Amino acid sequence: MSHFPTVRMRRTRAHDWSRRLVRETRPAVDDLIWTLVASDSKTERTPVPSLPGVSRLNLDGLVKAAKEAEELGIPAIAIFPHIDPSHKDAQATESLNEGGLVPEAVRAVKAACPGLGVIVDVALDPYTDHGHDGVMTGDIIDNDPTLNILAESAIILAKSGADIVAPSDMMDGRVGAIRDALDEEKFGDTMIMSYAAKYASGFYGPYRDAIGTKAALRGDKRTYQMDPANRSEAIREVELDINEGADMLMVKPGLPYLDIIRDLKNTFAMPTFAFQVSGEYAMIKAAGANGWIDEDAVMMESFGAFRRAGCDGVLTYFARDIARKLRA
Ligand code: PBG
Repeated sequence: MSHFPTVRMRRTRAHDWSRRLVRETRPAVDDLIWTLVASDSKTERTPVPSLPGVSRLNLDGLVKAAKEAEELGIPAIAIFPHIDPSHKDAQATESLNEGGLVPEAVRAVKAACPGLGVIVDVALDPYTDHGHDGVMTGDIIDNDPTLNILAESAIILAKSGADIVAPSDMMDGRVGAIRDALDEEKFGDTMIMSYAAKYASGFYGPYRDAIGTKAALRGDKRTYQMDPANRSEAIREVELDINEGADMLMVKPGLPYLDIIRDLKNTFAMPTFAFQVSGEYAMIKAAGANGWIDEDAVMMESFGAFRRAGCDGVLTYFARDIARKLRA
């Protein structure tokens, strides 16, 4: 007696046309945010060895990249600064310089590409000589004095034309402090994308090379970034940020935390983003370069995984490559 499976999952998988027909999610250029590193170097592009294909860009380089993003249909870029060590101090004074690298970069990009969304990180770590996201009192990363600096820095960034400020520091109460400050200064339309669930991750290494904080960083960030072992805590973190006025949420890192993304999307139905961080990018690049994986296939598969998990968009160093692939 032969047995015939009544249900054959393979039927719909048998043809390209039927696979397309039953496909549940599709990669779209509209869901990309391109992460770019700015510097005040004289050279247009300075490659970052631990992020193959990524360079620190001076203003000319950055404007070129922004134009490319716009050309490809990428809705927004996110700018991260490499600050010259001579501008760093314990109080992150340079983060309040209206003529500093990031405000200049935002003005330049906005002048060249007014229709391109510009997102800027709000955090002190690029500006502190100890590499932490807050000011220190003794050995403690001091929450409340940090809030004032973050709020002031957010105003400067909004003034320079940033559309979205993205606090990535994980201080308590910062979304509320930033929202209040922006509203008081009549920047009621500036959006806040909160790095709401940001984990104390080993995946940030190449980024710290790129912005030059790795050597500087004293200790680790476990007293403010989340414990990678925790899931429910992300719900509480995010709920606070929503109540304080966040317009969009972000989970960081990305692929190792897809469970958190799905939880948040199901719980809050907010615009939800993932940051495919530097270490995730570097791993795919390294394995691809060795011929151990097909880099392009894995790049597209991981982008698809974010969408399947419930992301509305992804911040990624791959954005240009993905956009090109989608266009081809
Ligand atoms: C911190 C910040 C980090 C990243 C962006 N902003 C992490 C950190 O150094 O703790 C990481 C981005 C990446 O790895 O691509 N304000």
